Amino acid sequence: MADRARWSSRMIFVFAAIGSAVGLGNVWRFPYLAGKYGGGAFLIPYLIALIIMGIPLLILEFALGQKMQRGAVHAFAAIKRKFMGVGLMAIFTGFTVVSYYAVVMAWSLMYLFYSFTLKYAGDTKDFFFNKALQISSSIGEIGGINLTILLTLVVIWVLIYFCVWKGVKSVGKVVVVTMPLPVILILILVLRGLTLPNSLEGIIFYLKPNFAALFDTEVWTAAMSQIFFTLSLAFGIMIAYASYMKKDSDITKNAVITSVVNSAISIIAGFAVFGTLGYMAFKQAVPVSELAAAGPSLAFIVYPKAITMIPMAALFGVIFFVTLLTLAIDSAFSLVEGVTTVVSDAWHKASRPLVSLIVCALGFLAGIIFTTRAGLYFLDVVDHFATNFGLIIVGILECIAVGWVFGAEKLRKYINEVSDYKIGKWWSFCIKYLIPILLIYLIAVQFVAEMKANYEGYPNWAIVIGWLVVLVPLAISFIVSYWPEKKKAVATS
Ligand code: PHE
Repeated sequence: MADRARWSSRMIFVFAAIGSAVGLGNVWRFPYLAGKYGGGAFLIPYLIALIIMGIPLLILEFALGQKMQRGAVHAFAAIKRKFMGVGLMAIFTGFTVVSYYAVVMAWSLMYLFYSFTLKYAGDTKDFFFNKALQISSSIGEIGGINLTILLTLVVIWVLIYFCVWKGVKSVGKVVVVTMPLPVILILILVLRGLTLPNSLEGIIFYLKPNFAALFDTEVWTAAMSQIFFTLSLAFGIMIAYASYMKKDSDITKNAVITSVVNSAISIIAGFAVFGTLGYMAFKQAVPVSELAAAGPSLAFIVYPKAITMIPMAALFGVIFFVTLLTLAIDSAFSLVEGVTTVVSDAWHKASRPLVSLIVCALGFLAGIIFTTRAGLYFLDVVDHFATNFGLIIVGILECIAVGWVFGAEKLRKYINEVSDYKIGKWWSFCIKYLIPILLIYLIAVQFVAEMKANYEGYPNWAIVIGWLVVLVPLAISFIVSYWPEKKKAVATS
């Protein structure tokens, strides 16, 4: 077997891991959740979830990839063949997410061009729904493909392809730019946000704790799923990335740096968003809370609106959308890498550029549905089911496979052998008991909510599609795992 490809240095690996973690989830999803769940109070569950779930699971994924020197499917198969389905489910979920993540990137690219002439100025809401997306009236009315989005999506996939085509070799070169650049741009946006009149009101809303929210289980479940999403956990990515490290690289340090930088960027990006919202609230004489509760439309409606109100608006519009795109691209190609790593592990002879091409082409095809006029509705449904169920199921199975079958203590021993910071028994406790129990609770709460009412009032057939997005990959993973083994055993190392 040929030697495994390697990151050119440990720093490049950490850059790539941070690049994957930092994405739309930090600049768009995190501030919108913070706004929705009472500003400052959201930070507490978020940080607790980071410490008891995020960091331990990232350590687990790094350790597993590095120890087994394989992508998600083969790493789990090396624990026990029947667990290969956990890895499969992870990459199926990753593939689903990248199919719509690329579409949000396509919108961002369109908005980057619109920013030069501030085409969205005026009624940004009308612009987003009716001009940019040309949205239909309901999910049932597909209404054909929006060609602009489709063509922009092609451009996005070509970009993604050229980042990943040679695997870690090309990724390693790209992340040197795409990881630090958006961070610098975010700092510019923070400075701009904080120097606007009345920005303080936005910041107070963002940081002032509202302790009553801590008694709301919904805040806790939102914080936990955000931690999964933001650290790119349970997609097979971090396992794949770590599999290109030498077996003796320091695991805890890599995991702590990645998670701390990622959350720091979320929290800092919050200052840019809320500072700007404070200014906008003042201009429009509405409370910040009203603007902050905009939900998913924050990045394409509220923030562009705020931009048009500040001097040199076009420049800040361009900066904002370049930030979104450069943030998102490393997350998108990390999802592709998670899949191509698994395929290349299975067929060592397959050419890397070809495997990447096929995965990108399939990702594009799967995304076409989101470029139709009902695309936003489909995106909403698929995102809801994939992140609230797909991810969490993988997380639970991961804990069982490593914690109970491989042995948390055995993995902890390996981690401590190669790492400077030693982790204590608390880590095994988290993996074996705490995290799976919390995740089972989380999924149960969500399941009950699902049974009470259709998500966002979508029709039953749409909800069925949402479930299929989770259950079909789950069924396939299960069948593959239990398929009678061929003579040639799966290679483990
Ligand atoms: N972590 C990325 C973000 O916060 C999103 C992502 C999810 C990336 C899943 C890869 C996989 O935006």
